[in-house]
Amino acid sequence: MAKQFDVAVIGAGAAGMMCAAAAGQRGRKVVLIDHASKLAEKIRISGGGRCNFTNINAGPANFLSENPHFAKSALSRYTPQDFLTLVRKYRIAYHEKHRGQLFCDDSAEQIIEMLKAECAAGDVHWRMPAKVETLDQTDTGFLLHTDSGDIEAANVVIATGGLSIPKIGATDFGYRIAKQFGLQMVEPRPALVPLTFDEAQWQPFVPLAGISLEVDVTTGTLKGRKATGARFREDLLFTHRGLSGPAILQISSFWQPGEPITIDLLPEMDVAQALIEGKGTQKKQLGNVIAQWLPARLAEGLLTAHGFAHDARLADLPDAQLRKLGQALNAWTITPNGSEGYRKAEVTRGGVDTKELSQQTMMANKVPGLYFIGETVDVTGWLGGYNFQWAWASGMAAGLAI
Ligand code: FDA
Repeated sequence: MAKQFDVAVIGAGAAGMMCAAAAGQRGRKVVLIDHASKLAEKIRISGGGRCNFTNINAGPANFLSENPHFAKSALSRYTPQDFLTLVRKYRIAYHEKHRGQLFCDDSAEQIIEMLKAECAAGDVHWRMPAKVETLDQTDTGFLLHTDSGDIEAANVVIATGGLSIPKIGATDFGYRIAKQFGLQMVEPRPALVPLTFDEAQWQPFVPLAGISLEVDVTTGTLKGRKATGARFREDLLFTHRGLSGPAILQISSFWQPGEPITIDLLPEMDVAQALIEGKGTQKKQLGNVIAQWLPARLAEGLLTAHGFAHDARLADLPDAQLRKLGQALNAWTITPNGSEGYRKAEVTRGGVDTKELSQQTMMANKVPGLYFIGETVDVTGWLGGYNFQWAWASGMAAGLAI
């Protein structure tokens, strides 16, 4: 005999636990199912083990989606302050690190324990580890065939996340269910991910691996109705294979394959102008001049990479050459050949098309009783606690509606 529930939530990650707790606390009989043997690995490893659990400034403008309006309803009904109220109730110490990003003082485990306690307060049943093999619609709801027995549920919530980091349990389950029920998808792509370059093109920059500095990075069109691009001022990190660091992770979500990115390595100054003005008074070598503004190893490496002699005297260089160098430092334009992929991506962009879902409840318009929440949906946050805020808000929206 199949066990009967009002709600089966598939995926006990951030969104799934939030949803199960909310529905359970409203008196629904809820079962939470996950195939992993260890609970909520993504929360555990997030924020370097301290979980950047929200961003106090989170608003719809911090999310990417084919429909940028979709997330507004859930985000406005469950805000960062609401999550903070929960964090304070459990006496979890936290701090703001950078631009509204809130982290646990001690450990991400505290957020997992808090969500477990909230599920317990809603008498949520657990099936874990358990793999859902098939999901069928019946006259009364859904029948889930799992490797530890069948489950009948009036409602099913898909909270199985995106494709990022398959080695800790990410699967395409949510997308397969969407397709099974005829729902449109926005093509998934790795996001918040380091970018890579053609090996030969990157060769001159390999010696710079490990160097980090604050830059402005831009991609796409920034102005007008067709604006699809973005600009971020954050730290950039040179790696052996390409570029990483918060600046690059942020821009990667907006980057379109084949398009360039433009990096301003000295966003506070006009390098060409400073070099040309300095010609009369500077008898110095070019390398030493640039090293006043950038770390010496970076200055030397960039000059070599862009074909300038480190020991050339500034005064001897024609203005046209200095403008070229200014361009290389203020608007270094380079085209990635790809990214480090789902192995390194913090999130997946794209997913279940929001056209298919109610923005109030997250239920599929065509399939009464079937809900999608969290990262499976085509709503992707910037780096900095926004993705968890979407998981909490969308989980709560469904949990309060079922
Ligand atoms: P999530 O991935 O959390 O949960 C999905 C669950 O479904 C998992 O438990 C999985 O085992 C289960 N599952 C998958 N397939 C299944 C199947 N077929 N059957 C049963 N269960 C299945 N965000 C942020 O805001 N702040 C941060 O600090 C970080 N840091 C960070 C670091 C790293 C390394 C990564 C990879 C990601 C982050 N993120 C983040 C992003 C954040 O972790 C992510 O957006 C949320 O965890 C998404 O929550 P979901 O509940 O949607 O999916």
